Amino acid sequence: MAEEALLGFLHSNEELTDSGQFATSIGIDHNEIVNVIKSLHGFRLIEAQDIKRESWVLTDEGKSYVLLGSPEVQFFLAVPPEGISREDLQKKVDPSIYKIGCSQAAKNKWVEIGKSLVIRKVPHVEDRVKDLLKRIQNGEVVDPKDVDDLKKRKLIALQTWKGYSLRKGPNYTLKRTKAATDLNRDQLQRGDWKDLEFKEYNFSARGQPMEGGHLHPLLKVREQFRKIFFEMGFEEMLTNNFVESSFWNFDVLFQPQQHPARDSHDTFFLQVPSTTKRLPEDYVERVKSVHESGGYGSKGYNYEWKREEANKNLLRTHTTAVSSRMLYLLAQKPFSPRRYFSIDRVFRNEAVDRTHLAEFHQIEGLICDRGLTLGDLIGVLNDFFARLGMSKLKFKPAYNPYTEPSMEIFSYHEGFKKWVEVGNSGMFRPEMLLPMGLPEDVSVIAWGLSLERPTMILYGIDNIRDLFGHKVDLSLIKTNPICRLGIQ
Ligand code: PHE
Repeated sequence: MAEEALLGFLHSNEELTDSGQFATSIGIDHNEIVNVIKSLHGFRLIEAQDIKRESWVLTDEGKSYVLLGSPEVQFFLAVPPEGISREDLQKKVDPSIYKIGCSQAAKNKWVEIGKSLVIRKVPHVEDRVKDLLKRIQNGEVVDPKDVDDLKKRKLIALQTWKGYSLRKGPNYTLKRTKAATDLNRDQLQRGDWKDLEFKEYNFSARGQPMEGGHLHPLLKVREQFRKIFFEMGFEEMLTNNFVESSFWNFDVLFQPQQHPARDSHDTFFLQVPSTTKRLPEDYVERVKSVHESGGYGSKGYNYEWKREEANKNLLRTHTTAVSSRMLYLLAQKPFSPRRYFSIDRVFRNEAVDRTHLAEFHQIEGLICDRGLTLGDLIGVLNDFFARLGMSKLKFKPAYNPYTEPSMEIFSYHEGFKKWVEVGNSGMFRPEMLLPMGLPEDVSVIAWGLSLERPTMILYGIDNIRDLFGHKVDLSLIKTNPICRLGIQ
């Protein structure tokens, strides 16, 4: 109906100058006309040119004053001819308009605000503001100075109206025939395909958006790390237990029971179930004795090791707990050299800020073999990080209860023009490996780093809460580009 009217109008007129006026003249909503215009324009039945009109409309506040009167008049009317105390006036006047009404009424010299009394200075007032607002609402033209005042008081706002002016297009016809989209059997049998008009392919139309899963940046980067490990001959360890006992997370790593990391300020302990059910008893004995009195050439820590402390369940604080379980299993069989890695989530009871969350992902690699040295560790680290595009490394002596020597790893960041810490590493102590039952000449070199840090650098994200957690913008997950390690 709108389409017919529009094409009909252009049949007898050169131009339709204003789609808004046209919509009013045929009594149709402008939005509906716009849809028709878009479709006719798409098939080039008409040419369309944008037109814009600006007009003033009332804000919600402005609309409320048309109904209730301007604040200054409401204020004035609340002041009785004999005057009123400020407290009483405050009770009478709506708090949302008291301040503005008071200042405007005083500015207009309608009232006098005395120390204790508010009195009228004129017998009656006219509500100019309300009248002006009404006139604007009716589309009448008002003095620019008044418009300015109302705008400053945020009672009116400029609204842009968009419409079109129209002319006939190259494919103009008075009545549009619906183009066929498919050639089908019926048309062929009837023979009417000869006369049909077929819709042309639109090669520039957007394709259907792909539905389905999208990998989170952390998972994409994790995949790249996995590839690198596989290329270097590593096997992936099973990491599917977030809940771990203190024994595997701390004790077997020769971390003394009074170590500050084992405090509930740093570690999430479980309430239910609060303790582990089973531990390998003979191994527990050896761990207890290495803590208490050492052995294997070590003096131990010289304190009373408590089984209850080792039994406590926690959310694993590092994936080294995974490595310790794996090495223990390995020690139960005739030894063969191995390379293992894991990438999974760990938890720390930390204050959350733009670079820290209470959970994150760790990447950990380890190699066990006979006769490994610190030189092997440095060599492997250089190889590993070079595959990530970090070929300038520096090492700094560090301390971990379970490694000796230990090294922090720094890489020169070409973009930041400085050395940044990228990981931690070391050689597992004999106090950890020998109670497991590994042969004496076997050494284990290992390192760990976070997955979040490189991911944030690669994706240019500077607040970890934009990467992980409930504040993540899902469209980021759907549209993020593939960022490759190796491009710093
Ligand atoms: N577990 C250490 C950490 O949480 C990383 C590490 C792994 C250090 C292996 C040395 C060897 O930071």
